[in-house]
Amino acid sequence: MEFDFEVLSKAVRYKLLCSFVAPRPIALVTTVSTDGVHNAAPFSFFNVFGDEPPIVILGIQDRPDGRPKDTTKNIKDTGEFVVHMTDREIGRAMVDCAVDFEPEIDELSETGFCLAPSIKVKPGRIVDAPAAMECRLEQTVEYVGRTIVLGRVVHMQVRDDCIDPETLYVDSAIYQPIARLHADFYIASEDQFEIHKPTMTEYLAQKKANGRVRNS
Ligand SMILES: Cc1cc2nc3c(=O)[nH]c(=O)nc-3n(C[C@H](O)[C@H](O)[C@H](O)COP(=O)(O)O)c2cc1C
Repeated sequence: MEFDFEVLSKAVRYKLLCSFVAPRPIALVTTVSTDGVHNAAPFSFFNVFGDEPPIVILGIQDRPDGRPKDTTKNIKDTGEFVVHMTDREIGRAMVDCAVDFEPEIDELSETGFCLAPSIKVKPGRIVDAPAAMECRLEQTVEYVGRTIVLGRVVHMQVRDDCIDPETLYVDSAIYQPIARLHADFYIASEDQFEIHKPTMTEYLAQKKANGRVRNS
């Protein structure tokens, strides 16, 4: 099927893009308001954008009435946030954080998450999350009904069982983040497999042996 994005409705564009650009990693973001109320919300328009400087990016849409979401407001007001990765154990509570609670409701206690103080930023970190990245706001870009947030990671906390303390390799039997597919569907990372990237020498040797590389 062909789709002309220049004539499609917003709803159909969303459906196609979000169903096929998948799975998308999920940032479970904690922020704190200027009144000191904690907030948590998930965002799958999210990724890491580089390591020098260490940058993560969030795409936060405005509410249908044009007001910014609480996360956007808090990040702009305070310049700080924490991005958590999510696994199956905290998946239910992560999704509950997407309920549109009033700003004065502490979403963390509402959804049963426990917070610990962060090291460098004011928003706390979710204790059960496998990894938490403390971020300072680097830049926001206002772009057609949404705010694109660039955050600099200033500290990272990883749950001890997820990482080998000697090699710093992730333990992929333990750290199994979930990611968003379409609508209410998610995928976990149990079915991991390896595709080795060959050196040019290996590539040519493989090609010579098989006549071709793909499916060899
Ligand atoms: C898995 C998941 C991913 C989401 N991703 C986004 C996203 O990338 N951008 C966005 O604006 N909203 C996203 N949402 C919706 C927000 O989480 C939701 O609007 C939330 O209530 C915002 O909370 P806040 O007003 O406390 O910031 C997502 C919801 C879920 C469940």
